[in-house]
Amino acid sequence: MNEEIRRLLEEYGEEILESEEFQKAYRQKHHKIMTVADHSLGVAIISLRICRLLEKMHINVHEKELIISALCHDLGILGRDEKYKNDLECCSRHPKDSIDIVRSLTGEENRRVEDSIRRHMWPLTPRPPKYREGFILTAADKISSTMERMGKSPAAGVSYKRKKDL
Ligand SMILES: [Fe+2]
Ligand SMILES: [Fe+2]
Repeated sequence: MNEEIRRLLEEYGEEILESEEFQKAYRQKHHKIMTVADHSLGVAIISLRICRLLEKMHINVHEKELIISALCHDLGILGRDEKYKNDLECCSRHPKDSIDIVRSLTGEENRRVEDSIRRHMWPLTPRPPKYREGFILTAADKISSTMERMGKSPAAGVSYKRKKDL
C-alpha cells in the first residue's frame, strides 16, 4: 500500500479504526477466509485506488464519506451467529445493522454514507445506490472479496489491531 493511501485511510478513518467495534471485527470471520476488519480495510484501499483512477477523468468523489462507508459497511455482521438465523437473513439485514453502528461511531447521520452502506449488496438487492460513492463501494466490495478468495488480500500487511488484543 502506498503512503498516500495509508495517510488518507488514517486521516478519514481514525475514529473508526480505533473503535471497539473495529477491533472486534478482527475476531469475526468473513467469507470463511478473512476477518471482517481485514476485508473492510481491503474495500477501503480498493475504493481509494478507484478514486485515483476517477481523478484522472476529472470525476470527484467525497473520499471521507467513501472511506467511512467502506470501513463500516460490514460491521453489522459482528455477532452474526447470535443475531441472524441463517446466511440469507445475514445478507439482507447486515447493511441496516452497519448503519446503526456508523451512526453511533460518528455521532451523525450522513445520507451519502448511509445510502452507500444500505445498498452495498446491489445488484444482489434490487435498488442501486443513489450516489457515486455507493457505486464505488459496491465495486470495491466485489473486487476485494474476489481477491481475498484468490488469496491476494488488498490489505495484506496492513493492520490496526491493538497490541493488547494480539
Ligand atoms: Fe456486506
Ligand atoms: Fe463487504
